[in-house]
Amino acid sequence: MKLVFLGPPGSGKGTQAVKLAAEKGYPHISLGDLLRKEMHDGTEIGSRIKEFMNAGKLVPDEITIEITKNTITGKNDWILDGFPRSFVQAEAFDQMLKESKVELDKVIYFDVPEDLVVERLCGRRSCKECGAVYHIKYNLPKKEGICDRCGKKLYQRGDDNESAIRTRFKVYAEQTKPLVERYQQAGKMATVDAGRSIDEIYKQLLSIIKDAGN
Ligand code: AP5
Repeated sequence: MKLVFLGPPGSGKGTQAVKLAAEKGYPHISLGDLLRKEMHDGTEIGSRIKEFMNAGKLVPDEITIEITKNTITGKNDWILDGFPRSFVQAEAFDQMLKESKVELDKVIYFDVPEDLVVERLCGRRSCKECGAVYHIKYNLPKKEGICDRCGKKLYQRGDDNESAIRTRFKVYAEQTKPLVERYQQAGKMATVDAGRSIDEIYKQLLSIIKDAGN
């Protein structure tokens, strides 16, 4: 199964991708996580992207295109979370799929009202080690501040502050949202109502995937 998760910041793409990856065994490829790892490891790419990431802006296309290409090539299944996010990336992605002779199964659009998302992002706690995501009210870990899955300490992302959140929304509206129409026209789009509970969204996701596999 080859899936793209598309939606605004805080719509729950990462939360659902981690659940689906654990149940189905599809690799979860989160561009945000891969880019944060570059920063954490202090690579040359990491130092180039730091300012963009912390401000909530998109990092240069050539970097995300290269990382995506290297990561998906040769894999039979994936959940691509956070790519493509611009028209240039979508065109490059089409080309990648064409060259590898693979077909995308579905683009899942996480549709959610903006007011819900701000509260979700302000209360998010993440695990650097395994990528699991929690919330101080809606999705608590069993032990406060500690990841259920790998036992490491949870942290608050550097871009989960009011100013960066505002920029991420603006960037999403201007550069990423137009892709919804693009994939709708291509007949690849399925929309989930991402304003509901984590379990309700997951049930809908499983049903979309079941239909796509038939
Ligand atoms: P990225 O890490 O992808 O961030 P994002 O797109 O802003 O998405 P988020 O991770 O904020 O939200 P999410 O939808 O995954 O929500 P989550 O499940 O965590 O990207 C970060 C940055 O990297 C970008 O700003 C950019 O700089 C760069 N970047 C990445 N990809 C790029 C690209 N292709 N090109 C250029 N630059 C790129 O949930 C949020 C919170 O809500 C959590 O606390 C969760 O527990 C809670 N929650 C989830 N679902 C529910 C629910 N149903 N009900 C209640 N709470 C919920």
